Amino acid sequence: MTNSELSALVESILDGPRPLTVVQAGDPVLRTPAQPYDGHLGDSLLHRLLDAMREHLPEVGVGLAAPQIGIPLSIAVIEDPATVDPEIADARERTPQQLLELINPVVTPSGDELVTHYEGCLSVEGWTAVVARHRTVRLDSSDRDGQPSTAEFTGWPARIIQHETDHLNGILYVDRAETRSLSTLDTYVRLWAEPTPRLAAEHLGFDLT
Ligand code: NI
Repeated sequence: MTNSELSALVESILDGPRPLTVVQAGDPVLRTPAQPYDGHLGDSLLHRLLDAMREHLPEVGVGLAAPQIGIPLSIAVIEDPATVDPEIADARERTPQQLLELINPVVTPSGDELVTHYEGCLSVEGWTAVVARHRTVRLDSSDRDGQPSTAEFTGWPARIIQHETDHLNGILYVDRAETRSLSTLDTYVRLWAEPTPRLAAEHLGFDLT
């Protein structure tokens, strides 16, 4: 797509209804590596896009990647107030994560430690599954003003960053999931909404890493 086609696409999405329509699994935009962002939209449109993506999150999710709203650019937002039970927050290292705007993010694992938890995705509505993720990662990214930064993240914020960066590489969490853990959200809430997936592993028959 040319810059003007991309800008027209973004304008039409921003002029469209709220909440934004989230593309569901099966759509090739979720399976195509996003184009590195290189000023395609201009600052003002980029900022409007990032603001709209952030506004989508409260009560719905903790991250959104541009391909999930049909935009094939390497852009994502993350924000997690972490309003969960203290026991769950502890077990999952789910600490509040302030707004992070990711432009062309690259994730590098720090160390070998993996942590396994249930995870979901706005593009795989109604389902959840266990995914082993790196506990700590380094993130190299730019913000909305093109300022590059490098930082290290641990626990749940590291998980969200890996999930969203995967989206920008055409990867869905189900690609990395322990398939025997697959559960509808209703069943998960009824049976497996524990701080860790230990009970689910025992009863559904999978190993925890
Ligand atoms: Ni997702």
